[in-house]
Amino acid sequence: MDTLDPGDPTSISRSVTAWFERLHGRSALGVFAAPGRVNLIGEHVDYNGGLCLPMALPHATYAAVGRRAGDTVTVASRQQHDTPFTGRVAELGPGSVTGWAAYAAGVLWALREDGWDLPGMDITVDSRVPVGAGLSSSAAIECSVALGAAELSGVAVDDEVRASLVRACMRAESEVAGAPTGGMDQTIALFGEAEAALLLDCRDWSTRQVHWDPASAGLTLLVVDTRASHSLSDGGYESRRRDCETAAAELGVDLLRDVVDQDSALASLGDERVRRRVRHVFTEIERVRRAVDELEADDFETLGATMTASHVSLRDDYQVSCAELDEVVDTALRHGALGARMTGGGFGGSAIALVPDDRLQEVAAAVQQAYSERGWEAPGFLTALPSAGARRLA
Ligand code: GLA
Repeated sequence: MDTLDPGDPTSISRSVTAWFERLHGRSALGVFAAPGRVNLIGEHVDYNGGLCLPMALPHATYAAVGRRAGDTVTVASRQQHDTPFTGRVAELGPGSVTGWAAYAAGVLWALREDGWDLPGMDITVDSRVPVGAGLSSSAAIECSVALGAAELSGVAVDDEVRASLVRACMRAESEVAGAPTGGMDQTIALFGEAEAALLLDCRDWSTRQVHWDPASAGLTLLVVDTRASHSLSDGGYESRRRDCETAAAELGVDLLRDVVDQDSALASLGDERVRRRVRHVFTEIERVRRAVDELEADDFETLGATMTASHVSLRDDYQVSCAELDEVVDTALRHGALGARMTGGGFGGSAIALVPDDRLQEVAAAVQQAYSERGWEAPGFLTALPSAGARRLA
Protein backbone atom coordinates (compact mmCIF):
# COMPACT_ATOMS: atom_id res chain seq x y z
CA MET A 1 0.00 0.00 0.00
CA ASP A 2 1.38 3.40 -0.98
CA THR A 3 0.45 6.09 1.49
CA LEU A 4 0.48 9.83 0.91
CA ASP A 5 3.62 11.24 2.51
CA PRO A 6 3.05 14.29 4.73
CA GLY A 7 6.66 15.34 3.99
CA ASP A 8 9.19 16.76 6.41
CA PRO A 9 7.95 20.10 7.81
CA THR A 10 11.45 21.58 7.98
CA SER A 11 12.29 20.88 4.36
CA ILE A 12 8.86 21.95 3.08
CA SER A 13 9.24 25.12 5.07
CA ARG A 14 12.68 25.75 3.54
CA SER A 15 11.41 25.16 0.04
CA VAL A 16 8.37 27.44 0.40
CA THR A 17 10.63 30.16 1.80
CA ALA A 18 13.05 29.77 -1.11
CA TRP A 19 10.13 30.01 -3.54
CA PHE A 20 8.90 33.17 -1.79
CA GLU A 21 12.39 34.67 -2.19
CA ARG A 22 12.53 33.78 -5.88
CA LEU A 23 9.11 35.33 -6.53
CA HIS A 24 9.54 38.47 -4.48
CA GLY A 25 13.27 39.08 -4.25
CA ARG A 26 13.26 39.35 -0.46
CA SER A 27 12.71 37.15 2.59
CA ALA A 28 9.39 36.18 4.13
CA LEU A 29 8.61 37.04 7.74
CA GLY A 30 8.05 33.36 8.43
CA VAL A 31 6.33 30.13 7.46
CA PHE A 32 3.06 29.15 9.09
CA ALA A 33 1.69 25.63 8.91
CA ALA A 34 -1.86 24.44 9.53
CA PRO A 35 -2.98 20.82 9.30
CA GLY A 36 -5.77 18.95 7.57
CA ARG A 37 -7.96 16.84 9.80
CA VAL A 38 -10.01 13.72 10.19
CA ASN A 39 -12.96 13.60 12.52
CA LEU A 40 -13.00 10.46 14.66
CA ILE A 41 -16.68 10.91 15.38
CA GLY A 42 -19.34 13.62 15.73
CA GLU A 43 -20.35 14.34 12.15
CA HIS A 44 -22.77 17.04 11.04
CA VAL A 45 -23.29 18.14 14.60
CA ASP A 46 -21.01 21.20 14.77
CA TYR A 47 -23.63 23.52 13.26
CA ASN A 48 -26.17 22.05 15.70
CA GLY A 49 -24.13 23.02 18.76
CA GLY A 50 -23.07 19.40 19.26
CA LEU A 51 -19.88 17.59 20.21
CA CYS A 52 -17.21 16.35 17.84
CA LEU A 53 -13.84 14.66 18.17
CA PRO A 54 -11.49 15.60 15.33
CA MET A 55 -7.71 15.20 15.21
CA ALA A 56 -5.09 17.04 13.19
CA LEU A 57 -3.27 15.18 10.42
CA PRO A 58 0.49 15.32 9.85
CA HIS A 59 -0.42 16.59 6.35
CA ALA A 60 -0.40 20.36 6.46
CA THR A 61 -0.51 23.53 4.39
CA TYR A 62 2.52 25.83 4.61
CA ALA A 63 2.21 29.56 3.99
CA ALA A 64 5.26 31.82 3.71
CA VAL A 65 4.07 35.32 4.55
CA GLY A 66 5.93 38.60 4.16
CA ARG A 67 5.23 42.32 4.32
CA ARG A 68 4.78 44.15 1.03
CA ALA A 69 4.97 47.89 0.53
CA GLY A 70 1.57 49.49 -0.07
CA ASP A 71 -1.79 47.82 0.41
CA THR A 72 -1.66 45.03 -2.14
CA VAL A 73 -1.98 41.35 -1.30
CA THR A 74 -0.65 38.59 -3.53
CA VAL A 75 -1.26 34.88 -3.05
CA ALA A 76 0.54 32.20 -5.05
CA SER A 77 0.07 28.47 -4.62
CA ARG A 78 2.39 25.64 -5.62
CA GLN A 79 -0.69 23.51 -6.31
CA GLN A 80 -2.45 26.04 -8.55
CA HIS A 81 -0.64 26.90 -11.69
CA ASP A 82 -2.73 29.90 -12.61
CA THR A 83 -1.45 33.45 -12.18
CA PRO A 84 -1.08 34.41 -8.51
CA PHE A 85 -4.04 36.25 -7.02
CA THR A 86 -3.52 40.01 -6.61
CA GLY A 87 -5.90 42.43 -4.90
CA ARG A 88 -5.97 45.46 -2.63
CA VAL A 89 -6.52 44.70 1.05
CA ALA A 90 -9.46 47.08 1.31
CA GLU A 91 -11.21 45.59 -1.71
CA LEU A 92 -11.17 41.93 -0.70
CA GLY A 93 -14.54 40.47 0.19
CA PRO A 94 -17.55 38.46 -0.88
CA GLY A 95 -17.82 38.46 -4.67
CA SER A 96 -14.38 39.98 -5.25
CA VAL A 97 -12.46 36.72 -5.36
CA THR A 98 -13.34 33.22 -6.54
CA GLY A 99 -11.68 29.81 -6.64
CA TRP A 100 -8.90 28.64 -4.32
CA ALA A 101 -7.69 32.19 -3.56
CA ALA A 102 -11.04 32.92 -1.86
CA TYR A 103 -9.91 30.89 1.16
CA ALA A 104 -6.81 33.01 1.67
CA ALA A 105 -8.20 36.40 0.65
CA GLY A 106 -11.46 35.68 2.50
CA VAL A 107 -9.58 35.35 5.77
CA LEU A 108 -7.91 38.74 5.30
CA TRP A 109 -11.32 40.27 4.58
CA ALA A 110 -12.83 38.68 7.71
CA LEU A 111 -9.94 39.91 9.88
CA ARG A 112 -10.45 43.43 8.58
CA GLU A 113 -14.15 43.12 9.31
CA ASP A 114 -13.06 42.28 12.86
CA GLY A 115 -11.17 45.56 13.02
CA TRP A 116 -7.66 44.34 12.24
CA ASP A 117 -5.45 46.84 10.47
CA LEU A 118 -3.74 44.62 7.89
CA PRO A 119 -0.74 45.73 5.85
CA GLY A 120 -0.04 44.72 2.25
CA MET A 121 1.49 41.26 2.10
CA ASP A 122 2.74 38.48 -0.13
CA ILE A 123 1.75 34.90 0.59
CA THR A 124 3.11 31.75 -1.04
CA VAL A 125 1.43 28.48 -0.22
CA ASP A 126 2.48 24.85 -0.53
CA SER A 127 0.20 22.08 0.71
CA ARG A 128 0.39 18.38 1.53
CA VAL A 129 -3.33 18.15 2.31
CA PRO A 130 -5.03 16.55 -0.68
CA VAL A 131 -7.71 18.79 -2.20
CA GLY A 132 -11.25 17.40 -2.56
CA ALA A 133 -10.56 14.46 -0.23
CA GLY A 134 -12.74 15.76 2.60
CA LEU A 135 -9.67 16.34 4.80
CA SER A 136 -10.16 20.09 5.19
CA SER A 137 -7.61 21.43 2.79
CA SER A 138 -9.65 24.64 2.82
CA ALA A 139 -9.42 25.11 6.60
CA ALA A 140 -5.69 24.35 6.38
CA ILE A 141 -5.08 27.17 3.92
CA GLU A 142 -7.35 29.56 5.85
CA CYS A 143 -5.68 28.87 9.17
CA SER A 144 -2.10 29.02 7.88
CA VAL A 145 -2.82 32.40 6.27
CA ALA A 146 -4.69 33.64 9.37
CA LEU A 147 -1.77 32.80 11.64
CA GLY A 148 0.68 34.45 9.25
CA ALA A 149 -1.46 37.58 8.99
CA ALA A 150 -1.72 37.77 12.78
CA GLU A 151 2.03 37.58 13.25
CA LEU A 152 2.61 40.06 10.44
CA SER A 153 0.29 42.46 12.24
CA GLY A 154 2.37 42.09 15.39
CA VAL A 155 -0.34 40.32 17.37
CA ALA A 156 0.80 37.93 20.12
CA VAL A 157 -1.08 34.74 19.29
CA ASP A 158 -2.60 33.25 22.46
CA ASP A 159 -5.65 30.97 22.72
CA GLU A 160 -8.02 33.90 22.68
CA VAL A 161 -6.51 35.18 19.43
CA ARG A 162 -6.64 31.65 18.01
CA ALA A 163 -10.37 31.54 18.83
CA SER A 164 -10.88 34.81 16.96
CA LEU A 165 -8.90 33.42 14.02
CA VAL A 166 -11.26 30.40 13.99
CA ARG A 167 -14.23 32.76 13.67
CA ALA A 168 -12.56 34.76 10.88
CA CYS A 169 -11.76 31.57 8.97
CA MET A 170 -15.37 30.40 9.36
CA ARG A 171 -16.63 33.70 7.93
CA ALA A 172 -14.17 33.45 5.06
CA GLU A 173 -15.42 30.00 4.22
CA SER A 174 -19.12 30.72 4.42
CA GLU A 175 -19.27 34.31 3.16
CA VAL A 176 -16.44 34.46 0.64
CA ALA A 177 -15.90 30.85 -0.50
CA GLY A 178 -19.61 30.04 -0.31
CA ALA A 179 -19.46 26.90 1.86
CA PRO A 180 -21.60 27.36 4.99
CA THR A 181 -19.55 25.02 7.19
CA GLY A 182 -19.79 24.64 10.93
CA GLY A 183 -16.41 25.47 12.51
CA MET A 184 -15.05 22.06 13.43
CA ASP A 185 -12.33 22.09 10.77
CA GLN A 186 -10.95 25.51 11.62
CA THR A 187 -11.00 24.74 15.35
CA ILE A 188 -8.99 21.55 15.04
CA ALA A 189 -6.58 23.22 12.61
CA LEU A 190 -5.85 25.94 15.16
CA PHE A 191 -6.15 23.95 18.40
CA GLY A 192 -4.97 20.43 17.49
CA GLU A 193 -2.17 18.80 19.49
CA ALA A 194 0.03 15.79 18.80
CA GLU A 195 -1.11 12.49 20.31
CA ALA A 196 -4.56 13.84 21.03
CA ALA A 197 -8.01 14.17 19.59
CA LEU A 198 -9.87 17.36 20.41
CA LEU A 199 -13.22 17.11 22.14
CA LEU A 200 -14.99 20.17 20.86
CA ASP A 201 -18.24 21.46 22.28
CA CYS A 202 -19.75 23.55 19.50
CA ARG A 203 -22.30 25.17 21.78
CA ASP A 204 -19.78 27.16 23.79
CA TRP A 205 -16.68 26.32 21.71
CA SER A 206 -14.86 24.88 24.71
CA THR A 207 -12.25 22.23 23.96
CA ARG A 208 -10.51 19.41 25.76
CA GLN A 209 -7.55 17.37 24.52
CA VAL A 210 -8.23 13.62 24.73
CA HIS A 211 -5.07 11.52 24.68
CA TRP A 212 -5.04 9.28 21.60
CA ASP A 213 -2.00 7.40 20.47
CA PRO A 214 -3.19 4.60 18.18
CA ALA A 215 0.36 3.39 17.49
CA SER A 216 1.02 2.46 21.11
CA ALA A 217 -2.14 0.36 21.08
CA GLY A 218 -1.00 -1.54 17.98
CA LEU A 219 -3.59 0.21 15.84
CA THR A 220 -3.50 2.36 12.75
CA LEU A 221 -6.09 4.89 11.75
CA LEU A 222 -6.24 4.31 8.03
CA VAL A 223 -7.68 7.10 5.89
CA VAL A 224 -9.04 6.13 2.51
CA ASP A 225 -9.60 8.89 -0.01
CA THR A 226 -12.50 7.49 -2.04
CA ARG A 227 -11.66 9.83 -4.94
CA ALA A 228 -15.41 10.34 -5.25
CA SER A 229 -16.29 13.96 -5.84
CA HIS A 230 -16.85 15.95 -2.69
CA SER A 231 -18.01 19.53 -2.48
CA LEU A 232 -19.48 21.46 0.38
CA SER A 233 -20.84 24.20 -1.82
CA ASP A 234 -23.11 22.28 -4.18
CA GLY A 235 -26.25 22.14 -2.07
CA GLY A 236 -26.26 18.77 -0.25
CA TYR A 237 -24.49 20.14 2.81
CA GLU A 238 -26.54 23.31 2.93
CA SER A 239 -29.85 21.48 2.60
CA ARG A 240 -28.97 19.21 5.56
CA ARG A 241 -28.12 22.28 7.55
CA ARG A 242 -31.41 23.91 6.59
CA ASP A 243 -33.38 20.83 7.66
CA CYS A 244 -31.74 21.06 11.09
CA GLU A 245 -32.47 24.77 11.41
CA THR A 246 -36.09 24.25 10.37
CA ALA A 247 -36.45 21.49 12.96
CA ALA A 248 -34.85 23.59 15.69
CA ALA A 249 -37.26 26.44 14.94
CA GLU A 250 -40.20 24.02 14.99
CA LEU A 251 -39.02 22.65 18.34
CA GLY A 252 -38.55 26.12 19.78
CA VAL A 253 -34.77 25.92 20.38
CA ASP A 254 -31.81 27.77 18.89
CA LEU A 255 -29.79 24.63 18.35
CA LEU A 256 -30.81 20.96 18.19
CA ARG A 257 -28.33 20.33 21.00
CA ASP A 258 -30.66 22.30 23.30
CA VAL A 259 -33.58 19.86 22.97
CA VAL A 260 -34.18 18.27 26.37
CA ASP A 261 -36.88 15.70 25.71
CA GLN A 262 -35.57 14.07 22.56
CA ASP A 263 -38.21 11.33 22.28
CA SER A 264 -41.13 13.73 22.28
CA ALA A 265 -39.26 16.09 19.97
CA LEU A 266 -38.80 13.28 17.44
CA ALA A 267 -42.42 12.20 17.79
CA SER A 268 -43.63 15.74 17.21
CA LEU A 269 -41.81 16.29 13.92
CA GLY A 270 -44.22 15.84 11.03
CA ASP A 271 -41.76 15.42 8.17
CA GLU A 272 -40.13 11.98 8.00
CA ARG A 273 -36.97 13.29 6.30
CA VAL A 274 -36.47 15.99 8.92
CA ARG A 275 -37.14 13.48 11.70
CA ARG A 276 -34.32 11.26 10.41
CA ARG A 277 -31.92 14.19 10.21
CA VAL A 278 -32.71 15.15 13.79
CA ARG A 279 -32.43 11.55 15.00
CA HIS A 280 -28.93 11.43 13.53
CA VAL A 281 -27.94 14.60 15.36
CA PHE A 282 -29.30 13.36 18.71
CA THR A 283 -27.74 9.90 18.46
CA GLU A 284 -24.44 11.20 17.08
CA ILE A 285 -23.89 13.59 19.98
CA GLU A 286 -24.50 10.68 22.37
CA ARG A 287 -22.04 8.52 20.43
CA VAL A 288 -19.35 11.18 20.83
CA ARG A 289 -19.82 11.08 24.61
CA ARG A 290 -19.46 7.31 24.56
CA ALA A 291 -16.47 7.42 22.20
CA VAL A 292 -14.57 9.71 24.57
CA ASP A 293 -15.15 7.30 27.46
CA GLU A 294 -14.10 4.37 25.30
CA LEU A 295 -10.98 6.15 24.14
CA GLU A 296 -10.04 7.07 27.68
CA ALA A 297 -10.59 3.46 28.80
CA ASP A 298 -8.47 2.13 25.88
CA ASP A 299 -11.53 0.12 24.87
CA PHE A 300 -10.85 0.14 21.14
CA GLU A 301 -13.21 -2.73 20.28
CA THR A 302 -16.17 -0.78 21.58
CA LEU A 303 -14.85 2.46 20.12
CA GLY A 304 -14.73 0.73 16.74
CA ALA A 305 -18.36 -0.34 17.08
CA THR A 306 -19.36 3.21 18.00
CA MET A 307 -17.57 4.56 14.91
CA THR A 308 -19.38 2.06 12.71
CA ALA A 309 -22.74 2.98 14.27
CA SER A 310 -21.97 6.60 13.35
CA HIS A 311 -21.49 5.56 9.74
CA VAL A 312 -24.79 3.70 9.66
CA SER A 313 -26.59 6.75 11.02
CA LEU A 314 -24.92 9.05 8.46
CA ARG A 315 -25.78 6.61 5.70
CA ASP A 316 -29.38 5.87 6.63
CA ASP A 317 -30.65 8.85 8.61
CA TYR A 318 -28.55 11.78 7.45
CA GLN A 319 -28.07 10.35 3.95
CA VAL A 320 -24.68 11.90 3.24
CA SER A 321 -22.77 8.72 2.36
CA CYS A 322 -22.26 7.32 -1.14
CA ALA A 323 -21.45 3.98 -2.78
CA GLU A 324 -17.67 4.47 -2.52
CA LEU A 325 -17.74 5.38 1.19
CA ASP A 326 -20.03 2.44 1.98
CA GLU A 327 -17.80 0.07 0.03
CA VAL A 328 -14.67 1.18 1.92
CA VAL A 329 -16.43 0.86 5.28
CA ASP A 330 -17.96 -2.56 4.56
CA THR A 331 -14.75 -3.96 3.08
CA ALA A 332 -12.59 -2.68 5.94
CA LEU A 333 -14.94 -4.23 8.50
CA ARG A 334 -15.00 -7.57 6.68
CA HIS A 335 -11.18 -7.66 6.74
CA GLY A 336 -10.55 -6.96 10.39
CA ALA A 337 -11.07 -3.24 11.05
CA LEU A 338 -12.45 -2.65 14.55
CA GLY A 339 -14.62 0.14 13.19
CA ALA A 340 -14.98 2.32 10.12
CA ARG A 341 -16.92 5.35 9.02
CA MET A 342 -17.06 8.21 6.59
CA THR A 343 -15.38 11.32 7.93
CA GLY A 344 -16.15 14.97 7.16
CA GLY A 345 -19.07 16.29 5.16
CA GLY A 346 -19.66 13.19 3.04
CA PHE A 347 -20.96 12.78 -0.53
CA GLY A 348 -17.49 11.40 -1.33
CA GLY A 349 -14.28 12.46 0.37
CA SER A 350 -12.65 10.09 2.83
CA ALA A 351 -13.45 7.20 5.13
CA ILE A 352 -11.46 6.17 8.20
CA ALA A 353 -10.90 2.68 9.57
CA LEU A 354 -9.44 1.68 12.91
CA VAL A 355 -7.26 -1.27 11.99
CA PRO A 356 -4.99 -3.58 14.04
CA ASP A 357 -1.49 -3.18 12.59
CA ASP A 358 -1.32 -6.83 11.54
CA ARG A 359 -4.46 -6.44 9.39
CA LEU A 360 -3.47 -3.18 7.72
CA GLN A 361 -2.09 -4.59 4.47
CA GLU A 362 -5.02 -6.96 4.16
CA VAL A 363 -7.59 -4.18 4.61
CA ALA A 364 -5.85 -1.91 2.09
CA ALA A 365 -5.50 -4.71 -0.47
CA ALA A 366 -9.17 -5.67 -0.05
CA VAL A 367 -10.29 -2.07 -0.58
CA GLN A 368 -8.12 -1.82 -3.70
CA GLN A 369 -9.55 -5.10 -4.97
CA ALA A 370 -13.15 -4.01 -4.33
CA TYR A 371 -12.47 -0.77 -6.20
CA SER A 372 -11.00 -2.51 -9.20
CA GLU A 373 -13.93 -4.96 -9.34
CA ARG A 374 -16.30 -2.02 -9.45
CA GLY A 375 -14.21 -0.32 -12.14
CA TRP A 376 -13.59 2.76 -9.97
CA GLU A 377 -10.51 4.96 -10.03
CA ALA A 378 -8.04 3.60 -7.45
CA PRO A 379 -8.48 5.04 -3.92
CA GLY A 380 -5.74 6.96 -2.07
CA PHE A 381 -4.43 5.95 1.35
CA LEU A 382 -2.86 7.79 4.20
CA THR A 383 -2.19 6.93 7.80
CA ALA A 384 -3.27 9.42 10.38
CA LEU A 385 -1.13 10.12 13.43
CA PRO A 386 -2.71 12.79 15.63
CA SER A 387 -0.48 15.79 14.96
CA ALA A 388 0.16 19.41 15.91
CA GLY A 389 -2.19 22.27 15.09
CA ALA A 390 -1.31 25.54 13.35
CA ARG A 391 2.14 26.85 14.24
CA ARG A 392 5.02 28.98 13.12
CA LEU A 393 7.85 26.96 11.62
CA ALA A 394 10.47 29.43 10.56
C1 GLA B 1 -17.47 19.63 6.86
C2 GLA B 1 -17.66 20.97 7.51
C3 GLA B 1 -17.67 20.86 9.03
C4 GLA B 1 -18.63 19.78 9.50
C5 GLA B 1 -18.43 18.50 8.70
C6 GLA B 1 -19.46 17.46 9.03
O1 GLA B 1 -16.21 19.14 7.14
O2 GLA B 1 -16.63 21.85 7.12
O3 GLA B 1 -17.98 22.11 9.59
O4 GLA B 1 -19.95 20.23 9.43
O5 GLA B 1 -18.46 18.73 7.31
O6 GLA B 1 -19.30 17.04 10.33
